[in-house]
Amino acid sequence: MPLNSGELAKRFEKRFADHPRIFRAPGRVNLIGEHTDYNDGFVMPAAVAFSTYVAIAKRLDHKLLIHSEEIPGSFEFDIDHLPEQRPGAWCDYVLGVAAVLHQRGHKPHGANLLVHGEVPIGAGLSSSAALEVASALALMSVADRQLPLPDVAQLCRQAENSFVGARVGIMDQFVSCMGRAGHALLLDCRSLEFQPVPIPAGVRLVVCNTMVKHDLASGAYNTRREECEESVKYFQKWSPTVRALRDVSAELLERHVRELPATIAKRAIHVVRENQRTLDAAHALTVSDLDRMKKLMRDSHASLRDLYEVSCRELDIMVDAAEGLPGYCGGRMTGGGFGGCTVNLVREEHAADFTQTIAELYRQRTGINPDVYLCTAEDGAGEIT
Ligand code: GLA
Repeated sequence: MPLNSGELAKRFEKRFADHPRIFRAPGRVNLIGEHTDYNDGFVMPAAVAFSTYVAIAKRLDHKLLIHSEEIPGSFEFDIDHLPEQRPGAWCDYVLGVAAVLHQRGHKPHGANLLVHGEVPIGAGLSSSAALEVASALALMSVADRQLPLPDVAQLCRQAENSFVGARVGIMDQFVSCMGRAGHALLLDCRSLEFQPVPIPAGVRLVVCNTMVKHDLASGAYNTRREECEESVKYFQKWSPTVRALRDVSAELLERHVRELPATIAKRAIHVVRENQRTLDAAHALTVSDLDRMKKLMRDSHASLRDLYEVSCRELDIMVDAAEGLPGYCGGRMTGGGFGGCTVNLVREEHAADFTQTIAELYRQRTGINPDVYLCTAEDGAGEIT
């Protein structure tokens, strides 16, 4: 439920009898470059208007109180004895960030936190990254610390890797921090250099939620990572300078792909080609070549379905349903997969009809009522003043 910051401040005052500062961090969609970030490759996400808000004020003691009015559970911790193991609830993301800040020498201050999340949970729109980033900015503010936003992204990713136990890449946290209105970001996940890529004028993002929940911490994501790591070991035998799949050229892949075990070969082909598709897509968007963009997104989806094997029946139905609808300029599954959302580029004048038609087609073919969101690319995280 959208809530304005004035209302969140009021609720905070009512609960904690104090005046908060409020920090916001957005969720994201990824236009292309899927499962490439943890292979040191390229991604092209955009921040969207769904955000997580964290209202915070200092406490005089050493307690960390974390509360939300929508997600069940109120949590209380002692900042001198933060748990080393995750409690296994949504507060893990906040605690993980507090723990990593502490490890890096930024000891958290006692504080009251009120969390309000508008990013749909388990929909592949990075509700976890949004919560981590908003919490990091909030916790740093009461400890009078400031870090550059790319460093905030890295520490949030570390929290998710080491504390929550999901071996995610840097994409979600980075775009939640650095997103730019009207643009996607072409991000090099090795150097963290990035370049804003304009979403062509008159094109909207339509995000279609299959309503099938995905759970990243559940093994499949980590298994894909291990398979990529295994493929790198093979390529290193043939070319010792390879550090990650990012370093495998199309030629090297072609020369040796038949020597790889079948599953490993499929994963490697996806990643090597997806990196190239992402670079090509950045160019296509920059020159407004939407036919090219449509083909690249279609190829990306097919590769995720057939080679990386992270799509599912509902995602495939949602992607197929979009083909041929008026104003459609390309679409694919977005995020980790196994459910969650598709992202579609749709011409503005057709966007409203598109949302209705695709929802109807999906309902007919699956019996599930989808949520469809008409989005624009938004700015990344910051304080609300
Ligand atoms: C999740 C992870 C990201 C990325 C995508 C797949 O969203 O959090 O780091 O790996 O899956 O592209």
